[in-house]
Amino acid sequence: MTDIHIVILAAGKGTRMKSHLPKVLHQISGLSLIARVLRTAAELNPASTTIVVGHGADQVKAALGGTAGIDFVVQEQQLGTGHALLQARPLLEDRKGTVVLLSGDVPLLTVNSLRDLLAEHTESAAAATVITANVARPFGYGRIVRTNGKITKIVEEKDTTPAQRTISEINSGIYAFDLDPLFGALDSIGTANKQGEYYLPDLIAIYRKQKRTVATWTVARTDEIRGINSRTELAEVSTMVRQQKNEELMAAGVTLIDPATTYVDADVVVGADTVIYPCVFLEGSTTIGAACEIHSGSRIVNSTVGDRVCVRNHTVVTDSTVESGAFLGPFAHIRPSSHIGQDVHVGNFVELKKTKMGKGAKANHLAYLGDANIGEKTNIGAGTITCNYDGAKKHETTIGDGVFVGSNSTLVAPLTLADGSYIAAGSAVTADVPAGALAIGRARQENKDGWVQKRTQKKSPTDN
Ligand code: UD1
Ligand code: CA
Repeated sequence: MTDIHIVILAAGKGTRMKSHLPKVLHQISGLSLIARVLRTAAELNPASTTIVVGHGADQVKAALGGTAGIDFVVQEQQLGTGHALLQARPLLEDRKGTVVLLSGDVPLLTVNSLRDLLAEHTESAAAATVITANVARPFGYGRIVRTNGKITKIVEEKDTTPAQRTISEINSGIYAFDLDPLFGALDSIGTANKQGEYYLPDLIAIYRKQKRTVATWTVARTDEIRGINSRTELAEVSTMVRQQKNEELMAAGVTLIDPATTYVDADVVVGADTVIYPCVFLEGSTTIGAACEIHSGSRIVNSTVGDRVCVRNHTVVTDSTVESGAFLGPFAHIRPSSHIGQDVHVGNFVELKKTKMGKGAKANHLAYLGDANIGEKTNIGAGTITCNYDGAKKHETTIGDGVFVGSNSTLVAPLTLADGSYIAAGSAVTADVPAGALAIGRARQENKDGWVQKRTQKKSPTDN
């Protein structure tokens, strides 16, 4: 096996996206276009991976900064695809092997197709092998010109003759190149064309003149080589990716009531017999267990959910853990770093932030619980608020096991309510409550007998 060197072209502006974000950073199901291309490329175990960046270079570098084993080269001016590949010369010209040239805006290409490309390239001992496709609408693509069945050149749409324009075999823009002759030949590419650019596809005619072998491999599923140039294409390809993911989920035993409106990111895992209702979003690194119900309008992001959890309508969970048997929502908001224990109930209009609820605890209605650690089987009444912020700092509230917090309690942190304590409804609690104690923190009620009648008598009849 010869070494594989990946080069990904990603310097173009993506004008038609009309975006401040570089085109290759736009996302499909939670992964940027370039991240998808990199994942596929990594499966070839390449000896090196180089990304040619230009427009928004800093943004692309920052977004991929954490990925190991990637080199960036900057193409200061976008003078064409041939010029773009030349930028990798300092990194690659002293090396041996095969360059696999990919495009940062072609996210659906599979590793199997790349393996087929490399097999063809090796078998034909070619200097260059082009992935081609036969498409019904070749408009906009470079056309593959053949003589006696052999590729002789590639002509860009703008440079075609009327006869060439009818050719339905197109250039995918994905190639394998033998490194030996590559950079020398790239040097001889000129700009004598309609766009005045250095066209990488011109290499094909150059190699044929040098009597080098040029091969082609034709992809059957033409969707794989679809490039993204506009928001419409981004949406179309997103739909395809989503459908594929949804089919995988259903094959794994997940019920999707309406796959067309189920939005599950690439890396999400869902257990068997879980039922997902329409308009559910499962994002990022989320894992959902078996036999759960996720009802409409819910969004779960970077979270781990156990088995038999019921997430009722319009619940949002972010960067949190939910253990088995819990009930959430409807309209619950679980904010980052929360941990919801086994069989916990979090009901409507309850917000949690950085809060842990122990096994069997309940907060069934209308509460804000922030920076709190709540014990097992504790009951949080409706309207309970942890006052965790004093205007400068956040403070913690610790609530033990089996505590009863009456409705409309205001818990001013830092505060500890020890095991088995009771908080009377409507209390403003500002001091720690010992185990088993009752805390009442409110003005005592006073009833004034006959007050209403006395008030009416005082008024003269003409007052009305
Ligand atoms: C290119 C091919 C065309 C092929 C099509 C497939 C050329 C001249 N034409 O056309 O034959 O059918 O892809 O989609 O190659 N890029 C740079 N620097 C540049 C120019 C482009 O990095 O100076 C990058 C772009 O960001 C993009 C890729 O190269 O990722 C392709 O460039 P693009 O302008 O989209 O080429 P097409 O006109 O689509
Ligand atoms: Ca393109």
